[in-house]
Amino acid sequence: MVVPRGDYEDFRTFLQDVCGIVLGPGKENLVNRRLAGVMRMHGISSLGEMMNHLRTGRNQRMQTCIIDAMTTNETFWFRDTAHFRLLGDRILPSLAESGQERMRVWSAGCSFGQEPYNISMVVEDYQASVPTNTRTKVEIIATDISTRVLAGAKKGIYGSNEVSQGLDPDQRKRYFTSRGDQWEVRPEIKRRVSFRELNLTGGYELLGRFDMIFCRNVLIYFSNSQKQDILDRMARILNPGGYLFIGSSESLSSHSDRFEMISESGGFGYRLRD
Ligand SMILES: C[S@@+](CC[C@H](N)C(=O)[O-])C[C@H]1O[C@@H](n2cnc3c(N)ncnc32)[C@H](O)[C@@H]1O
Repeated sequence: MVVPRGDYEDFRTFLQDVCGIVLGPGKENLVNRRLAGVMRMHGISSLGEMMNHLRTGRNQRMQTCIIDAMTTNETFWFRDTAHFRLLGDRILPSLAESGQERMRVWSAGCSFGQEPYNISMVVEDYQASVPTNTRTKVEIIATDISTRVLAGAKKGIYGSNEVSQGLDPDQRKRYFTSRGDQWEVRPEIKRRVSFRELNLTGGYELLGRFDMIFCRNVLIYFSNSQKQDILDRMARILNPGGYLFIGSSESLSSHSDRFEMISESGGFGYRLRD
């Protein structure tokens, strides 16, 4: 279907306004492909008609479906695995050494849950290796804008295909209970993680403060000014010396000077400057 240029521009503006995602020019085919199901579901035949519905501002359900369709949710287990090594080898031991009793982690843009569950798996392994009285209580808040991915993440049940991406057989056995071709994250891993819907372009005040933020492979879709704003606001809710992880193909330079790079265990992360 040919998309009139004006409708495409209107849709680009709408998408950036509601969720920060910047669509480059010439992505009409991608938009058509991703929105085909939403249009069918709502009995809409063109992007122009969809924009007219959205302009009335009364179609929250359609907006949710559009966000679900337009977000890229690709993820897999132990993605950028060096981050998890850094967490287990350096960060958790140093927090325990400092006597900190409680640690809060935010997985921002958690998609189907692999990232926050991976954090919990690393915590589980670390805690099993230290005496009970030195164990830090860890709370992991996992957020995403997409209600569809959050629904799957909360269940914590994955198909054989999903658990084969990034996990070896030993990890599957250790962290999951298998039922036929379904694999459910074990309760001791799940119990640290709570999921909630959150748009990164909105406010974070209600989340509280964190010792660590994972915001990996999310900001790549945003404009430079939005990246700066989000990183600035993340820096404000990190505790002194707190850590930030972004995707290994992303960079903070030119977006924020609030963090210094740390490099260890074959990977890099960032630490809030004093
Ligand atoms: C490519 S996935 C990254 C998942 C995981 N962090 C990783 O690195 O594997 C990006 C996620 O960011 C979410 N996202 C996109 N825009 C968002 C926004 N404005 N607020 C919150 N989450 C957003 C998407 O729904 C998607 O699940």
